Amino acid sequence: MANKEKLTGHARVETNNFLMIVLIVMVISVGGLVEIVPLFFKKSLTQPIDGLKPYTALQLAGRDVYVSEGCFNCHSQMIRPFRAETLRYGPYSVAGEFVYDRPFQWGSKRTGPDLHRVGGRYSDEWHRIHLINPRAVVPESNMPAYPWLEHRMVDAEGMPRRMEVLRTLGAPYTDEEIAASVEAVRGKTEMDALIAYLQVLGTARK
Ligand code: HEC
Repeated sequence: MANKEKLTGHARVETNNFLMIVLIVMVISVGGLVEIVPLFFKKSLTQPIDGLKPYTALQLAGRDVYVSEGCFNCHSQMIRPFRAETLRYGPYSVAGEFVYDRPFQWGSKRTGPDLHRVGGRYSDEWHRIHLINPRAVVPESNMPAYPWLEHRMVDAEGMPRRMEVLRTLGAPYTDEEIAASVEAVRGKTEMDALIAYLQVLGTARK
């Protein structure tokens, strides 16, 4: 440097890579902590709403089908607090409805309608026909058909392990429920499981 005078204050930070990086990291960390840490202690965000139950074994198996078939690519599960949404779908979603959803299925793409309050809206039979061929009940539908779900069986032996993992993450399953999960889903198809899951969506807050 031609100018050898000693830099002080802000000029020193701006001309020193190391100092600049360390200070940026410190500022962002403090800002991040101030925003994120309080969320862990806010009851309305961490506590289940009244009436919310962890998924039964069959519903849980259906949830896995929902994820593996990629339903979330076209369907959100998050009703925003706007009048147009609550008129169409029902009460808007609150954080306490998702505490047993790991990972949550909020989604960000709505090629099809939001599904958060679809539980109880149609009969099981409607869902079965719709999933085998959506055009059979909604002629203009461009949703793909999922006919193979009728023929694929749920992995019954794998259920206890899945429920145990969710228990370590906070779902209040009892030992009895976990032990009974194999029998609860034995002989069920992926279609049965997926419909059981769809029928419970959003029903805790009605
Ligand atoms: C390519 C996008 C796409 C994918 C993937 C998709 N859907 Fe759909 N879905 C739609 C569209 C569009 C509609 C609206 C027309 C209709 O009802 O078929 C719809 C409608 C629905 C409805 C009726 C909702 C209502 O309120 O009327 C349900 C239930 C549903 N889908 C479930 C599923 C499930 C479960 C899966 C995964 C197995 C899935 N969808 C995958 C596009 C999709």
